[in-house]
Amino acid sequence: MSVSSDPSQYHVKSVSPFTAELEVPGDKSISHRAVMFAGLSNGVCEIDGFLPSADCWCTVQAMRALGVEVDVLEENEFGPSKLRVRGNSGRFEAPSAPVDCGNSGTTMRLLSGILAAQPFETELFGDESLSRRPMDRIAKPLRLMGAEIEGRGDRCTAPIHITGTRDIQPISYESPVASAQVKSAVLLAGMFANGKTSVTEPYLSRDHTERMLKYLLVKTVRQGNTVSIWGGQTPESRDLRVPGDISSAAFWIVAAAARPKSQLRVRNVGLNPTRSGILQALIRMGARLNECIDEENGEPVGSVEVNGGTLRGIEIGGDEIPKLIDEIPIIAVAGALAEGKTIIRDAHELRVKESDRISAVAENLRRMGAEVQEFADGMEITGGAKLHGATVESLGDHRIAMAFAIAGLYAEGETIVKGTECVSTSYPGFEQELKQLIG
Ligand code: S3P
Repeated sequence: MSVSSDPSQYHVKSVSPFTAELEVPGDKSISHRAVMFAGLSNGVCEIDGFLPSADCWCTVQAMRALGVEVDVLEENEFGPSKLRVRGNSGRFEAPSAPVDCGNSGTTMRLLSGILAAQPFETELFGDESLSRRPMDRIAKPLRLMGAEIEGRGDRCTAPIHITGTRDIQPISYESPVASAQVKSAVLLAGMFANGKTSVTEPYLSRDHTERMLKYLLVKTVRQGNTVSIWGGQTPESRDLRVPGDISSAAFWIVAAAARPKSQLRVRNVGLNPTRSGILQALIRMGARLNECIDEENGEPVGSVEVNGGTLRGIEIGGDEIPKLIDEIPIIAVAGALAEGKTIIRDAHELRVKESDRISAVAENLRRMGAEVQEFADGMEITGGAKLHGATVESLGDHRIAMAFAIAGLYAEGETIVKGTECVSTSYPGFEQELKQLIG
């Protein structure tokens, strides 16, 4: 195996069984929320384990633009990893310029919830990929609450212009999509409303917002797929610790699970059941893995152990999808390595992620010799064919780049993954880990 020194592409060759113990960088979803919720709090919060990534840095810069003081207390080789945030109890300043959300849907959508309740105007913009993604899903409920939101076209794409109001109204909102970003935006706006705001989603999405609010002593109540919040609450300032990101760990877990005689232990990783669906899916595929929760302080955190073996194809769909939505590219790679068919359904959302992940995965797997049938809401992968090296494109999508670096470890010949700069969006150090792991 080799990884080229050109930062814009990886050259990957097949790997023999490996033994490794590692930690992955901080959870992206939790890092975003930690900075925003600390900024909303009534005092000083220190955030340890912050993910030094391009996406999360956009959230820091956005909070600074709104008048929140954020100091960097520690840096590692990839950037700031420990922050001190001075909350302003939800009273922000109007930014002096449009706010750049980069590639980050979480920054744009959650921030919109906060801005809907601020008595000033803000423009949020993003890169090309973010500017294609639908913002009508947050604009619709936030308009019902009284905010004015303008974007481009029917899907209200970025740049979006938000005119917030102190007179934000509570609503009961039925979201057509299971999206933690939509749920969080509505709950954040609801924190400023006079009364009870509820969001119902078709399936339960990741619950980091509810957990972090609870930890900061803001009450939310969940009944089935409905979460409610009462307005007029201010988060209590407390220090926060971000666990490792299960979505980043997923790449190594699959790399080990499909290779007999490989052994892997990932420490200090978030094991929130609304996020760890990949572990259950892999177990159904026959993977030999154990998770062990060491502590539960707001979020369950622990380790995952994997003993490599052979995998078999499974069907994935329904309420399982939100629990593994970001892991579908690497699960599809596992499907190509498994015996039999893997069928993924009910995953329309993949079409509006950082790239159209259904077509990106199908195209790249085919280039490597797998048989894939694409559906509007998923795909069918016929596993068991020997993968061969090929040139594949990331399409500027970090999870596509990393999933196909792992596929390259299983292919005969060299795989070139093009456009790998985007990996820094969520996993600084992925390339170094790849080099070290495989030697
Ligand atoms: C996220 C929620 C998910 C996920 C994204 C991060 C979050 O998106 O895909 O990577 O931090 O809330 P949706 O809420 O759009 O499903």
